[in-house]
Amino acid sequence: MARCFVTRSLPGGALGRLGAEHEVDLWPERLPPRPDELRERSGRVEGLLCLLTDRIDAELIAAWPRLRVISNLAVGCDNVDVAAVRARAIALGYTPDVLTETTADLAFALILAVARRLPEAMAAVPAGEWEPWDPGWLLGRDVYGTTVGIVGLGRIGSAVARRARGFEMEVLHTGGDGGVALDDLLARSDFVSLHTPLTPRTRNLIAAPQLRAMKRTAYLINTARGGVVDQAALERALREGWIAGAAVDVTDPEPLPPDHPLLGAPNLIVLPHIGSATHATRERMADLAVDNLLAGLAGRPMPREYRPP
Ligand code: DGY
Repeated sequence: MARCFVTRSLPGGALGRLGAEHEVDLWPERLPPRPDELRERSGRVEGLLCLLTDRIDAELIAAWPRLRVISNLAVGCDNVDVAAVRARAIALGYTPDVLTETTADLAFALILAVARRLPEAMAAVPAGEWEPWDPGWLLGRDVYGTTVGIVGLGRIGSAVARRARGFEMEVLHTGGDGGVALDDLLARSDFVSLHTPLTPRTRNLIAAPQLRAMKRTAYLINTARGGVVDQAALERALREGWIAGAAVDVTDPEPLPPDHPLLGAPNLIVLPHIGSATHATRERMADLAVDNLLAGLAGRPMPREYRPP
């Protein structure tokens, strides 16, 4: 029986399965442990089940000499110092696949919401601004028949591309067979949807020059990681009309403080990182995270072991 630390309560019955085999120390608070609280947890921890809100850095890893398995409840592992993990030969699991379709649904919801101005339209009704049907009121842009540019045609990017084809959209993408250069994609797309992991190479991948390269009528959609976009440049692009709008489920930092300047920009939708937030998907993520942890602690191959891109 190993000692496991779980940094937040999880939906479904997955933690019960972990507790049946190991000693589980479950962080009892609703908010995540701060880095110092994490470090001060027990040095006896052998298995860690953590979330994207937990920074698993070299200092933490050094503070836990018995740590041998980390299971990250996320497909993105940018919260983990992978080099430090590998240097200690710690097994690292993650939760791809189970959230692909759910996250792609949200990306598509953002495309539709920003193009058809749903937040403004919804706010107008209780605000008493709804007047008799007006041919010039709340006009948005069509989604069907337009062009979407997928930056990062991995699992989620491909799932967004499938949805886009159902809307008779032309699909451009970077990388892989038939991929186009980023500049070309930016210049031709009506919607640019980001699906890259956050790495040193992709940090600020979309900055001022890239936003200026987009059509003035185009929209930026980000369901990947906030750090992929230079947010100060995005704010400027929205205020100065370089692009028509943006819809993001991820920001840097998270949560974004309510007085953050980005939130004052026009034609912007910001969601609080809910890409994978459905009951079924979060339960599948919890199950996979526990399966990874159980396998790693038993010295078996994890169902989903993280290998850096
Ligand atoms: C992930 O898993 O990396 C998402 O951002 C949260 O579902």
